[in-house]
Amino acid sequence: MNIFYLSAECYPAAKVGGLADVVGSLPKYLCRQGVKTSVVIPKYRTDWIQDQPFETVFSGEAPLGRDSFSFEVQKKQDDDLGFPFYVIDIPDRFDRPGIYGDLQSGAAYEDDAERFFSFQIAVLEWIRSLAEKPDIFHCHDHHTALIPFMMTQCHRFKSLQKLPTIVTVHNAEYQGRYSHDKQKFLPDFNETKAGLLDWQGRLNCLATGLKCCWKISTVSPSYMKELRQQSNGLERLFVHEKQKSRGILNGIDESIWNPETDAYLSHHYSVQTLEEGKHANKKELCNKFSFDAGRPVISFIGRFVEQKGADLLPDLFSMLIDKGTDANFIILGTGNPELHKRFRRMSAEYIGFFDASLNYNEKLAHQIYAGSDFMIMPSRFEPCGLNQLYAMRYGTIPIVRAVGGLKDTVVDIAKPNGSGFTFRDFTLEAAGQAVERGLELYQYKTKFYALCQKIMKLDYSWNASAQKYIEMYQQINSKTHG
Ligand code: GLC
Repeated sequence: MNIFYLSAECYPAAKVGGLADVVGSLPKYLCRQGVKTSVVIPKYRTDWIQDQPFETVFSGEAPLGRDSFSFEVQKKQDDDLGFPFYVIDIPDRFDRPGIYGDLQSGAAYEDDAERFFSFQIAVLEWIRSLAEKPDIFHCHDHHTALIPFMMTQCHRFKSLQKLPTIVTVHNAEYQGRYSHDKQKFLPDFNETKAGLLDWQGRLNCLATGLKCCWKISTVSPSYMKELRQQSNGLERLFVHEKQKSRGILNGIDESIWNPETDAYLSHHYSVQTLEEGKHANKKELCNKFSFDAGRPVISFIGRFVEQKGADLLPDLFSMLIDKGTDANFIILGTGNPELHKRFRRMSAEYIGFFDASLNYNEKLAHQIYAGSDFMIMPSRFEPCGLNQLYAMRYGTIPIVRAVGGLKDTVVDIAKPNGSGFTFRDFTLEAAGQAVERGLELYQYKTKFYALCQKIMKLDYSWNASAQKYIEMYQQINSKTHG
C-alpha cells in the first residue's frame, strides 16, 4: 500500500502542537510494517527545513482563483526520518518562519485561506501527474480537509475522483471557517455541489472534509463520542457521519520519548533505575528553578488556550501554595498574554515555589518530564493528549481531567489498574482534591515509586494503534480493489 499524509505540521520540520508529533511518528511505524507512508507539508522557513537537503521532484503552475501560482515539490534527500518526506514550496505563501501566524506578535497570518488552499491545490496538481497514484489520501485537520472535496468535485482533478480519502480530526475546535467568497480560490467545480462547502452559512473546510471523505477518524474513542455532543457546531454532522467514523488512540514515538536514550537528558534511567534516575533529573531541574528538590514537583506543559484549561492553574497553584502545600510548581508554555502576565507575577510572588518558562522549549520539556513527580492536565476537552503519555513513559504521575483521550489513557488510582489521578469537574475544588490525593501518595515512598514504575511499563507506543490504522487502510483498499 502507498499512503500519502497531508498535513500542516510534521515534527521535527514544523511543530505547533500534537498534530506534528503524530504526523512525524505514525508514518515511521507504518513504513516499518510495510505500509509505505509519505508525508507532505508546506515548505515553511523553519530552521530545521532550512538545514535539510531537498531535491526538486516536480515543478508546476496551478490556478488560485483568477490568478495562478508556481510551486515546487521537493523531497528530503536522506530518508532518516523513517518515511519519505516532501515539502511544497510556494514562496509567497509559506516562506515565513511561523506556521499559522507571526512568531513574534502571535497574530494569525491574514491569508490563511489562500495559503492552505494553494497548498492543497498544489498537492493535487502534483499527484495527478504521477503515473503511480497513492492508494489512500490521508488528510489531517482542516488545513487539508478540502482535498476530498476537490478530488471529487473539481473538474481539474477528475482523474483522482475515485481514490479513497480519510480525514483525521486532531482538534475539531479549529475548522477553517471562511466567508463563502473564498470559494473563488477553488478550481472550477460542479456548482450543484456547492452545498458541500457550507456549514451554518459559512465555508467550513473541516465540515466539507467530513462530508466528502470515505472515512473519518479521530485520536481517541472517547473524543469520537464527545464530538457528537460538543464540537463547536459540528455535532449534527458527526452524528450523521457516525457509520464511517472511528476513534483510534494516538501513540508516542519511542525512539524520541525514551528516558534510557533521550538525547536531551543528562541522566538516563530505566524502570530498574527509576528512583536514582528521577532523583538526579529532579535535582538538576530544581537547581534550574532554585527549588528545594526535597519537595514534590508538579508541572504543566502546554499551550495557554481554552482547551488546555491553563487558566485554572494560577488560582489552583496559588490556593495550594497559600494553604502551605509543600510542593514546587512549574509551568512551560506560551499562549494567552493575560496568563503570561499572571504567571510572571506569580513567579515573583511565590519565589522558590513557583516558576514559569514562557516559551516553546523542546529540551526543557523533556527535562521536565524526567524531573517532575506529577504532570497536571486540567483540559476542558482533549482529543487525545500526548503529554500524559510522555509523562507516564518517564515515570511521572498524571493528574488529569477525565475527558477525551485523557479518560481513555489514565485510570484513576482508586480503580484496579490505576495509573494516575483523575477528576471530573472543571473546578478548583475538583482539581485541588486530585492534586492533594497525589501529594498524599507521595508521602508513601514505596507505593509512590511502585506506581511510577508501573506507568513507565505501560505500552503507549504506536505499535497497537498503527495496526488499527492498517486495518482501516486495508478495509478501504479491499473496497477499491474488491
Ligand atoms: C491536537 C489535540 C491533542 C492531540 C493532538 C494529536 O493537538 O489537541 O489532544 O493529542 O492533536 O492528535
